[in-house]
Parts: sequence; structure tokens; C-alpha cells
Amino acid sequence: MTKNVFIANWKMNLPSGFEFYLESLSKLTVSSNTTIIIAVPFPYLYQANKIVTHDTTRSDEVMIAAQNIHTKLKGAYTGEVSIDMLKDLDIQYVIIGHSERRQYFYEDNTIIVKKIEQATNKNINVIFCIGETSDERQKNKTFDILTDQLGILKRFENLDRIIIAYEPVWAIGTGVTATSSQAQEVHSFIRRWIMNNFDNNTAETTSIIYGGSVNEENIYDLVKQPDINGGLVGGASLSLQKFTNIINSVVDP
Ligand code: 13P
Repeated sequence: MTKNVFIANWKMNLPSGFEFYLESLSKLTVSSNTTIIIAVPFPYLYQANKIVTHDTTRSDEVMIAAQNIHTKLKGAYTGEVSIDMLKDLDIQYVIIGHSERRQYFYEDNTIIVKKIEQATNKNINVIFCIGETSDERQKNKTFDILTDQLGILKRFENLDRIIIAYEPVWAIGTGVTATSSQAQEVHSFIRRWIMNNFDNNTAETTSIIYGGSVNEENIYDLVKQPDINGGLVGGASLSLQKFTNIINSVVDP
């Protein structure tokens, strides 16, 4: 069965009362098939992980993610953080390939594949983000762009540690969400790509989640689609109430 995954990506923001936010989420009762992940800025990883893992009443399914890693394990790279450092903190997820990293930090496929290698070599799970820009969509290049971005996964033996997040760049932080049918069309394309390049079982079990202006209202239609297994949420995840409502859009079957 495909896992539902809901990820709060705080980006370079901190919700007010973030300790309370994390404590509350870690006590949330969710469907046994749901994983909740909170991607926090580097300086808060230690504290965040301590809050969710030291609470004995917590659900096992609340995890902390980092938002980035460097391609190298160590060295003279001022300001960077390596996968080994995340391992030291017992962090089990990392976001790689986010469009903001592609856009503002010039990350391309060559860099992204190295980062995925670093993470999977150390058994850290990857939230791999892909998506087209508005210009690319208008020029009918969406599927070519996604095929190119997905292509780097062919280097890996399996996708056991990969969650795919489809985030159309034009929908990120704009308030414009892909319609559920636009998103479903792309998600089913991604699942078919996995089927063709890996196998049926991998295609069925890989979580493919949607990101881009997800909110409490639009999430219901999105997760009703057969190939949408959850959401990667930016702005709305800064509110505990909103993010909780988003998670609750999925009920136990
Ligand atoms: P918004 O939900 O703010 O559009 O951000 C989406 C995103 O980039 C999550 O990674």
C-alpha cells in the first residue's frame, strides 16, 4: 500500500511557539498509513528531533527533515552541512531538489544526483522535488522537463528511500494551485515513468505527493486523486491548525 505523507516545509521561517507546534503534532492520532514530516531550518534540527522523539506518547510517524545537504561529506565549504552531520543528529529525511534551491542556488541535475547519493548511501530518506515552471508549462514542455528531472533516479537500484514531490514552480507561494486533474495527470505520468524504469511494485509503493499552494480547502480534492499520496506544504504549514487540518484530509480507509 502506498503511504500517505504530509510534509511541512518551514523554509527559512519559524512558526511562533514552534516547540508547542511540534509537541502537538507528535501527539496527533493519524491513520496508521500516514507519515508526517516537518522540515525545519538547520539550527532547530536538534531541538525539533528531541521534542518529537523524546515524547513517549508520540506517534511513531512524526519525523524531522533537513531542507538541504551538501554534496561532500566534509571539507572547506563554509556554511554548509553534510549528511554525516544529519546522521549525528539522527535525522532521517532530507529535502533535495527543491525548486528554490534549483532557482536561487543554481542546483542542477549533477548536483542533485550527488546529494541523493550522499543521502541514500547513508540510509537517509529523500524527499525529491521536481516540477516545471510556468513558461515550460505554457510551451507544453511539462512532461519533457519532468522526464529530465526524473532521469537521475535511473542511477539508483531502487526507490526504497525516495518520496517524490511534484511541485509545479508556478504554484509555489503564489496562491495558484494546480487543479486536482492537472496534478493527477502529472502524478499518473510520474507513476508510469517509475513503472517503465523500475517495476510495478515500485510504482505502486512510491509515495508521490503534491506541493504548491496547498491549503485546508484544496487538499481534499487533491488527495482524492488516485495517484496523489499527500502534500508538501509551505506557507500553510506555518500554522499548526492549518497543517493539522491538512493532515486530517486523509481518513483511515
Ligand atoms: P507553498 O505551500 O507556500 O506554495 O510552498 C510549497 C513548497 O515549496 C513546499 O516545499
